[in-house]
Amino acid sequence: MHLIILLFFVLASFSHQVPLPPTPFNTTVIPVTKDASTSVHKVSWSFTQPTRDTDLSYLIDLDAPFTWQDCVVHKPTNDLFCFIEEGCKSPLPCDDAACKEAQSYINPLCPSRNITAKYGCKICTVTPFNPVSKSCKLSQLTIDLMHMYVTNGRNPFYEFLPSYFGTPFTLSCAPSSLLRSLPKYVNGVVALSWSSLAFPRQITFPSVADKFGLCLPSSSSITAPGAIFLGDGPFYFTPFPNLDLRTILSYTLMVRKSSKSLGYYVKINGISIKGKHITLKAKSMRLSSVVPYTTLRSDIYKALVTAFTKAIKNIPRVNAVKPFSLCVKASAIGSVRTGFRVPNIDLETESGKVWTISGDNSMKRTGNGTACLAFIDGGLGVKDAILMGTFQMENNFLFFDMENQKLGFSSSLLARGTSCSGFNFTITE
Ligand SMILES: *[C@@H]1O[C@H](CO)[C@@H](O)[C@H](O)[C@H]1NC(C)=O
Ligand SMILES: *[C@@H]1O[C@H](CO)[C@@H](O)[C@H](O)[C@H]1NC(C)=O
Ligand SMILES: *[C@@H]1O[C@H](CO)[C@@H](O)[C@H](O)[C@H]1NC(C)=O
Ligand SMILES: *[C@@H]1O[C@H](CO)[C@@H](O)[C@H](O)[C@H]1NC(C)=O
Repeated sequence: MHLIILLFFVLASFSHQVPLPPTPFNTTVIPVTKDASTSVHKVSWSFTQPTRDTDLSYLIDLDAPFTWQDCVVHKPTNDLFCFIEEGCKSPLPCDDAACKEAQSYINPLCPSRNITAKYGCKICTVTPFNPVSKSCKLSQLTIDLMHMYVTNGRNPFYEFLPSYFGTPFTLSCAPSSLLRSLPKYVNGVVALSWSSLAFPRQITFPSVADKFGLCLPSSSSITAPGAIFLGDGPFYFTPFPNLDLRTILSYTLMVRKSSKSLGYYVKINGISIKGKHITLKAKSMRLSSVVPYTTLRSDIYKALVTAFTKAIKNIPRVNAVKPFSLCVKASAIGSVRTGFRVPNIDLETESGKVWTISGDNSMKRTGNGTACLAFIDGGLGVKDAILMGTFQMENNFLFFDMENQKLGFSSSLLARGTSCSGFNFTITE
């Protein structure tokens, strides 16, 4: 075991200098699953295919400055008693570049990190944040090792790592108490934000482009996962061996408010429902992987519900089911390939390209034969006029191209005869 520990530290400290062999693939793929009871989307701790619902996993967070997991950082001198398999973690020093980067993201909800003076430069204090409970704890930055699948766009392959142990990446530990409000077996958060410590941006082996694809599944079966792709692609989903999903994407610019802004924003000029147009004049829309339903500022919400009500005026309404306000008899709107047969909600993006929200992403079954318009009134004081939630993103292929600062979107893949569970995760040797 001592040898393994030694190797871990050698790797962890020198991996950046080790020349890596070339790989034929430029893209990696990570399975995404959906928690059955909370609808939260997650990836397994191993970044590979989970085998059980009880496998530990990370919540996907498009806003987190760095990844964190439930673990404790040990003093390096204790490590001879600490096995890698048990999550042995050693501290990063405060003058490490990753530490400075992590500390540059100040979250006003987090406690002051003003304890460095007490512990000196041997540790890097950071404040991991739980986006569901909106709470924050003091912890430390560390390094972990991981393996990922690479892909030719059609199947995953085991990556050709220079080492059995995996590639190192920087993350924060966190006390178990930070897990409150997260689903069972979710033991941390994986960061997919603009931060240079975000998970995709740390992957240098294979050398992937500064882009990632996100395809959230609507199914919570672990045998029908969605996918995150890091890199350029291509992306082929069954049953279409010749349709690269990149060819069906529309693009619009992503807006960054500052160099420290973490989340993803695009501008929306208007919303159309069956010919009725709501003018918004470049309202910003943020994408959230944590909020379940798209949340609108009250004035926009009211305009949307009014227009949608008019568009479905022949469909009998039933009592609203919280938290929604517009519900109908599910049997009255039938079910087609793209979910319920209701008028599309068209978001007109800044580029002029339209992001279409069809029935499967607008109407949610709430039980008892009822389906509701799955948008939420956020009140007048919300920070984002439009906060897009995961229900509206499911089965949409989203391509975050940081290199060119633009977002690619497919609208519903169901309309094209595939879904976010369409990637073939059969491993090829
Ligand atoms: C990987 O990227 C390099 C440079 O960006 C490119 O030349 C090469 O063709 C790519 N390989 C594959 C398999 O796409
Ligand atoms: C941090 O600690 C120093 C010295 O211990 C103190 O002077 C300073 O006011 C503290 N800053 C904050 C924000 O608490
Ligand atoms: C379904 O309807 C029954 C009888 O009206 C009611 O008791 C029950 O709470 C409803 N369930 C849901 C999920 O609305
Ligand atoms: C998935 O990939 C495997 C390996 O390439 C192949 O044998 C299988 O037919 C594929 N399944 C589908 C549904 O395309």
